[in-house]
Amino acid sequence: MSEDIWAGLVDRFADKAYASVKGYVRTYVMHQQLLEHLPPPPAPVLDVGGGAGHQSFPLAQAGYDVTLLDSSPAMLDKARQRLARLPEETRRRVTFVHGDGANADAAVNGRRFAAVLCHGVLGYLEDPEPLVAQLCRCAGSGGVVSIMTGNAKTSAVRPALERRWDDALASFDTRTEIGVLGVPGRADTVEELSELIRRGGVEPLRWYGVWLFVDWLEFGGTELDPSDSRQVAATAAVELEASRRDPYRQLSRVFHLVGRKV
Ligand SMILES: C[S@@+](CC[C@H](N)C(=O)[O-])C[C@H]1O[C@@H](n2cnc3c(N)ncnc32)[C@H](O)[C@@H]1O
Repeated sequence: MSEDIWAGLVDRFADKAYASVKGYVRTYVMHQQLLEHLPPPPAPVLDVGGGAGHQSFPLAQAGYDVTLLDSSPAMLDKARQRLARLPEETRRRVTFVHGDGANADAAVNGRRFAAVLCHGVLGYLEDPEPLVAQLCRCAGSGGVVSIMTGNAKTSAVRPALERRWDDALASFDTRTEIGVLGVPGRADTVEELSELIRRGGVEPLRWYGVWLFVDWLEFGGTELDPSDSRQVAATAAVELEASRRDPYRQLSRVFHLVGRKV
């Protein structure tokens, strides 16, 4: 594994982004969507590119046996610090693996999981196929594969909301942009990713949007107050509903695809 490009981004991502209303909405909506498909705890869950554990620690708290694999030592340190603040019984349910998702099967010694998550990772890879093949391989028979990534069909949304009209016009047919963390990112379509998981023996079950209105508000210049818990909960409930329905889910800048290994 080469240079840890995430080392300089750990705090911005793990503390700032997730402390925002958008960060809360993301974790909440994804968690609810996952629970629609996961078997009951303590089923084993592998989180590939699991970062600081924002999505998988809540699953450990819910009783799942979580393995978090990440290629960034800095991000794994952050995850360990965050886990240390959780109760002992949650801590016992989490295992960390330092490794590249492209070698996930070997990194977990061929273990098979009831669910394999990969959220917010594919966009940083030039070619998603090798990693997606590994996700599918690590899922046991009947296991769930859950992938969240950028939606190539909504690339004009952010520049348009930021009133960068020339960029918006140029972005309709592009796949790449500098993301909110300042790192170049690449987007996929639901159809292409569905085809990739099918090649790995995983049948697509359902796809969702993730957040929508919080993007419109934030990029439009409205500040949302993360300390107003009633408003935050009400926002998350609306976003969850929108994430399940057309046309709203189609306009989300990220999508969540869930499949099952046959
Ligand atoms: C945007 S963060 C997402 C973290 C987490 N999945 C979440 O949703 O909060 C991307 C993470 O992917 C990890 N990553 C990027 N490329 C990877 C690879 N090839 N193998 C394993 N992890 C990778 C990074 O180190 C970082 O922790």
